[in-house]
Amino acid sequence: PAGAPTDPYRPVYHYSAPKNWINDANGLVYTNGQYQLFYQYNPQGPTPGHLAWGHATSPDLVHWAPQPVALTEYKNPDGSNTMIFSGSAVVDSANTSGLFPAGTTDGLVAFYTGHVERPGLVLRQRQELATSRDHGLTWQRYAKNPVLDIGSKEFRDPKVFWYAPQQKWVMATVKADRQQVYLYESKNLTQWTFLSRWGRAGNTVKEWECPDLFELPVPGGGTKWVLLISSGGPIEQFRGQQYFLGQFDGKTFVPDQPYDEPTYLDFGKDFFAGVTFGNAPKGRRILVGWANNWAYAPTVPTGDQWRGCFAVPRELSLRRTAQGLALVQQPVAELRALGKEVLNVPNQAIPAGAAGYEVPFKGESYDLSLTLTPGTAKTLALNVLQSTAERTTLRYDVARQTLTLDRTQSGNVDFHPMFASSLETARVPLRNGKLQLRLLVDKSVVEVFAQDGETTLTDLVFPRQHTGRITLTAEGGTAQMTALRLADLSGAPAS
Ligand code: FRU
Repeated sequence: PAGAPTDPYRPVYHYSAPKNWINDANGLVYTNGQYQLFYQYNPQGPTPGHLAWGHATSPDLVHWAPQPVALTEYKNPDGSNTMIFSGSAVVDSANTSGLFPAGTTDGLVAFYTGHVERPGLVLRQRQELATSRDHGLTWQRYAKNPVLDIGSKEFRDPKVFWYAPQQKWVMATVKADRQQVYLYESKNLTQWTFLSRWGRAGNTVKEWECPDLFELPVPGGGTKWVLLISSGGPIEQFRGQQYFLGQFDGKTFVPDQPYDEPTYLDFGKDFFAGVTFGNAPKGRRILVGWANNWAYAPTVPTGDQWRGCFAVPRELSLRRTAQGLALVQQPVAELRALGKEVLNVPNQAIPAGAAGYEVPFKGESYDLSLTLTPGTAKTLALNVLQSTAERTTLRYDVARQTLTLDRTQSGNVDFHPMFASSLETARVPLRNGKLQLRLLVDKSVVEVFAQDGETTLTDLVFPRQHTGRITLTAEGGTAQMTALRLADLSGAPAS
């Protein structure tokens, strides 16, 4: 829902639950003409606990209708409690499970981690399933759960997909504390056989979570498999999301790079647990990430009504670049229909110095695209959510060829010692001398897509002042802006 006028931080076009806590996207599946978004949800309040699967649906990935809670925690006969942790969902169109009446083609099967605990003591994490015959509105937990239990307290986040070459289902899970992905196969969704595992194996500080494994076409021919893992980000104490490209033969994932040389999916601090729809129409591969960071997520200053939102769904593809094959992420094209274009500036010099060029628009929810040529400048800076004393700054260092998203002056940064930050990306080379940027700004979320989605950065920010100015500055010389378009999204609520 759109924020009340008094709610300065609830995003307008990024989905947040009507109330309470959310984290990971779960059970992403397309059925009955709707994208189903389930998510980690606390029905009882704005901090983690009592984890359930909340639910929202959308015909187009940008307008979301909140739905009743799908799956809730339950008590076990021995008095322990099972929370519904992260997982996935599939359409069992051939009724391979036999869990639906004969001839059913639209039965849904959800896989989640049953997180079994007594107060303060985790007993077990195991994979369970539930079925739905009404396109995800209501669910029945399977009577013979769990379907996969290896006696571990750190075994979670099942992602199930259909592997057509061998006419079977594959499940990717993590042994979180070993930093390993475990793969299983099944013909019927209820009986699972171990295939292989990959990763570090050993005691590590950060855990591997929320795996996803899927195939993408390579431009010019062939395919690559992509393994997504949520784990430590570029800075040690922050989680982030990484990916590996490689091959999968139905049994083993063979990456092109070692596990200790990951590539990062997003260089901001607030993109985590991103997973994809396995069956989006037209073969599209669409990623939904939680725009937050466990380091401080329970304390972000959004009040006691709601906490947490999702990044705008991103379409994934592979692109050949001078640096090799890049995993490209772009906001889904459907977002373009939401906004109203209010600015189109073809050409503008950016003079050296602090004054720079001010974009003739003020706002806090918009979609901004621009192209820059550094000219003689040594650094370029784009300031958004700017007021007299505050700004969120995206800086390009021409010599280093990197982008930095600096939120140290963004407003309220004091609620957690790890929040104030300035994070640098890997190299973002100019292309034909140009830097192309797209920013999705929405009250307390800033998503950056550079070079048509080759590099992304996602950060939360909590401005105290709300002037919403946008300025461009250059240091050490004069730069040129060759195109700018801005769509106002302040009147485009996600739900
Ligand atoms: C990732 C995660 C998952 C787990 C879920 C619990 O953010 O820690 O590994 O299933 O959140 O909410």
